[in-house]
Amino acid sequence: MGKDVIVACDFQSKKATLDFLELFTERKPFVKIGMELYYAEGPDIVRELKARGHKIFLDLKLHDIPNTVKKAMAVLSKLDVDITNLHAAGTSAMMKAAIEGLTREDGTRPLLIAVTQLTSTDQEAMERDLLIKEPIGEVVMHYAKTAKNAGLDGVVCSPLEAGIVKEACGKAFLTVTPGVRFADGDTGDQKRVMTPAEAKKIGSDYIVVGRPITAASDPVAAYERCIREFVD
Ligand code: C5P
Repeated sequence: MGKDVIVACDFQSKKATLDFLELFTERKPFVKIGMELYYAEGPDIVRELKARGHKIFLDLKLHDIPNTVKKAMAVLSKLDVDITNLHAAGTSAMMKAAIEGLTREDGTRPLLIAVTQLTSTDQEAMERDLLIKEPIGEVVMHYAKTAKNAGLDGVVCSPLEAGIVKEACGKAFLTVTPGVRFADGDTGDQKRVMTPAEAKKIGSDYIVVGRPITAASDPVAAYERCIREFVD
């Protein structure tokens, strides 16, 4: 898989999701299914979108004891998603168990990426609530390296961190970056944003774009603009 735009389908129902995706008649977007939609509709929504020809990033951010994550990943591997994820904070033992669970009998598996520190966590909250005193950039780097050493394929990170993750973990280590906005667009609640063109320049492999596409007056045009800026 090469560079691509992943559309965050943050809808509450299958109907709203399908109504939205039916707008795309020419190119089937790579879609992200998060907790909201998955918990509302269950695994059927994944099967349905897969059957309609969409690639899927299943963003459930698993974090539990290694055995539980291994078994949950074994279930998810049957859904045949393209990318799924977990929290690197679960430790390398959990990440290695996740890969074991995700790997099918024929040796294939979906790509597995790690959340380092959530972009909603800042230095102050990390120190106060998690008792982690190092600078957040170093924490992100350390988690990314731990994920790489555990055999994962990449991380979810801010586009601002994608460059340093590539430097530390190598070009082949994937960076999947939300927090993308058009230069002339509304930033909403995202604080640290980049345009698709900037994310391309810094080396992101995938950008995850929600509201700039889902809330646009012409979602297909907004999606095509992302593709033009980021992929073409
Ligand atoms: O609408 P917007 O483009 O902000 O959507 C970004 C998507 O990426 C949402 O689904 C959001 O939950 C997700 N995300 C994020 N920041 C992270 C991890 C995931 O914005 N650090």
